[in-house]
Order: sequence, then structure tokens, then C-alpha cells
Amino acid sequence: MSELELFAADEEAMLVFGARIAEVSGGNGLIYLHGDLGAGKTTLSRGIIRGLGHVGAVKSPTFTLVEPYEIGALRAFHFDLYRLVDAEELEYLGIRDYFDGDALCLVEWPQRGAGVLPKADMDITITPRGAGRALRLQAQGERGNAWCAALATGT
Ligand SMILES: Nc1ncnc2c1ncn2[C@@H]1O[C@H](COP(=O)(O)OP(=O)(O)OP(=O)(O)O)[C@@H](O)[C@H]1O
Ligand SMILES: [Mg+2]
Repeated sequence: MSELELFAADEEAMLVFGARIAEVSGGNGLIYLHGDLGAGKTTLSRGIIRGLGHVGAVKSPTFTLVEPYEIGALRAFHFDLYRLVDAEELEYLGIRDYFDGDALCLVEWPQRGAGVLPKADMDITITPRGAGRALRLQAQGERGNAWCAALATGT
């Protein structure tokens, strides 16, 4: 499976990468966002959701677990599972409705939902590097590979 390493020197660069990811995804798929507290997962999500065309705030869904977005004909769901006690809780949230349809799903702290969450198209791991952030994109499957290829060639 393909992999890509990127460097975002500041928050603005992170938002730009997010917009590129939104573009190549076409608004469909599942992305797991890994990284410690404060790594920049919500910042990247904000870039992705705005890249899909959302105008306005993208808040951290830390307390709500999931924040839905309707952007014209596109839909996005932004999860933060940090406070999830048990992966089974996801069943009560009705997660199949989120992941079965045409939508782009972003999941912070996906390890909290292990065993219940579907397989991701891409894992993105964010780690501090100097004052900026290193992003490691790992494709999982055909769709993720296509995204990586598009991101690498800038198409
Ligand atoms: N590429 C970057 N370079 C430097 N700072 C960044 C970068 N991206 C994000 N930040 C900063 O990192 C901080 C934390 O970001 P964010 O809230 O996105 O983290 P998070 O990974 O979602 O954390 P949590 O696990 O608590 O949800 C913010 O102050 C943001 O401005
Ligand atoms: Mg966050």
C-alpha cells in the first residue's frame, strides 16, 4: 500500500493539506487521524471539511463524539472518540448510518473504536517536528492508493 510523508510548517499549511485531501477524496471515504493530544488532528479535519466547501466553524467534537456537516450534495462526519468508554457505545450512535452512505468520515482517536469501526481508506499520523508537524499518510486499499497517487502527483 502506498505511503506519503508531508511536512506542515504551520497551521496554515495544515489547512492547505486538508483542502488537498478533501479534493482527492471527492467527499467519500474513511480517514483515521492518529497523533497525541494537540498533534493537529482537528486542525487537519478543519482543512478537509472546509475543503469540501463548508463555510464556518469546525469545532472539536470531543463532547458530542460526532459532528455532522451537510455541504451542498456532500456530507461529512467528524468524530472524536477520545471520550468513548467502550467501542460498543458506537453502536448506540448508529454508526452504520454514518459509514454506509456517501460521506467523508474523519475519526480522531480511532483506536477507541477498534473492533467496531469499519476499515479505513487511509491512516494519517501527525507528529510534532520542530515548530511544525510531520504527516504520514498510509493508504489502506484501492481508494486510499488512488488518493495517495493523486496527492503525490498534484493532480
Ligand atoms: N502544522 C502545524 N504546525 C504548527 N502548529 C500546528 C500545526 N497544525 C496544528 N497546529 C496547532 O496545534 C494545536 C492543536 O491542534 P488540534 O486541536 O488540531 O490537535 P488535536 O490533535 O485535534 O488534539 P486532540 O487530541 O486534543 O483533539 C493548535 O493550537 C494548532 O494551531
Ligand atoms: Mg482534536
